[in-house]
Amino acid sequence: MIQKMKGTEDILPNESYIWQHVEDVAKAVFDTYQIKEIRTPIFEAYELFKRSVGETTDVVSKEMYDFMDKGERHNALRPEGTAGVVRSYIENKLFGPEHANPLKVFYIGPMFRYERPQAGRQRQFHQIGVEVLGSTNPAVDVETMASALDILSDLGIENVTLYINSLGKTQDRYAYRQALIDYFLPLKDQLSEDSQRRLLENPLRVLDSKNERDKALVVNAPTILDYLSDESKKHFEEVQQMLTALEIPFKVNPLIVRGLDYYQDTIFEIVTNDDSIGAQSTLVGGGRYDGLVEMIGGPQTPGFGFAMGMERLILTMKEQSQDMPEEEGVDIYVMGLGQETNMTCLKLVQAARSEGLTAERDFHDRSLKSQFKTAGKLKAKLILTVGERELEDGTVQVKNQANGKQTTYQLSELLDDFYSCYLEQTVDTSAIDKYFRGE
Ligand code: HAM
Repeated sequence: MIQKMKGTEDILPNESYIWQHVEDVAKAVFDTYQIKEIRTPIFEAYELFKRSVGETTDVVSKEMYDFMDKGERHNALRPEGTAGVVRSYIENKLFGPEHANPLKVFYIGPMFRYERPQAGRQRQFHQIGVEVLGSTNPAVDVETMASALDILSDLGIENVTLYINSLGKTQDRYAYRQALIDYFLPLKDQLSEDSQRRLLENPLRVLDSKNERDKALVVNAPTILDYLSDESKKHFEEVQQMLTALEIPFKVNPLIVRGLDYYQDTIFEIVTNDDSIGAQSTLVGGGRYDGLVEMIGGPQTPGFGFAMGMERLILTMKEQSQDMPEEEGVDIYVMGLGQETNMTCLKLVQAARSEGLTAERDFHDRSLKSQFKTAGKLKAKLILTVGERELEDGTVQVKNQANGKQTTYQLSELLDDFYSCYLEQTVDTSAIDKYFRGE
């Protein structure tokens, strides 16, 4: 028996409607922000991620699914969405005058990271992401973060915290990096093995170590906020003022560093405060990446974006026992009694479907009882029954599940104009009619 690969999940037919619901909610929010969809390939040149996400990051150095193809090209399954969007922005000249500026795009789809799987952490997972290219205005940072919060709120996810930080510009970070090395080097022996390695490669990553010993040493480490240039300080202050003006609660957390190299200035994470999904409590991560487009060979273009993990959203919704969206009941369920009714049942469901109604039927010539059971499970609005007698008479029994009323229709009438029968049965206007007649 061949099984699914470790760290992957099947999204089964009885769960997929929840995924569709999450996507629909996100798309409705994006519409209000005029953020348009972009779809880029799920594999790209390995070099793209090496240059953008960063060669020494865990994502590229340890977690990337990369391979040589039959033409000896070095490919990688995308571990995240930003790099591909930026590549597409440059390649398709989306900075041209015929495109919106700033360009606001969203994407929904699978990403791949070779990580140790656990609840909320998979090797193939799904992100809903946004990238806004072309403006340094702090209002872009704020409205983009607000769009992420709107999605969480429209999904009914509560009890989250927005953490923000600033990484400053490259030169600010350079000075800060040195300050961190100066602080941690004398303490090196007390750091965890991972942090000792990171201290030389990327000392900022020591700050978000989960190791308790490291955490104790991090408390007194210098903070990035003391190393920001005036320009970066001003940008960060404006972001905070705007969040406050919109009454969006947030916390400044100088220990947030993010695991990807392209960020500068504002970075943020939205975290659930419930322990429900354990260590994987970061639902959303993102920030500003003003140098990235240029680094990949495009014109100097600022950028801001985020991505949220769909698995984590759905886990959180379930843990917070959100009312999951109910699946719509089927409009019509056709029950046939006896093999001879097979053709009539086929005609009936097809007639309903051609009028835009949803319809299902029994295919197994099962007992009346079990067909009724299925109709109940499908939350059928109208149940149509065809038996031997109906076949002879050319009639169909229609039962309205909302009021239990049973009506006999002519088969020819139904096949000709299914929709009016449906309306007649499901929209009960009698109370309104009575009211207007003054009864
Ligand atoms: P990231 O923080 O690496 O950022 O990922 C964003 C979100 O994707 C995480 O907060 C989490 O919800 C989800 N996620 C990441 N890895 C996994 C995994 N192995 N299993 C399940 N969910 C996961 C980025 O990817 C950036 N591209 C975000 C961005 C866009 N920054 C600017 N623009």
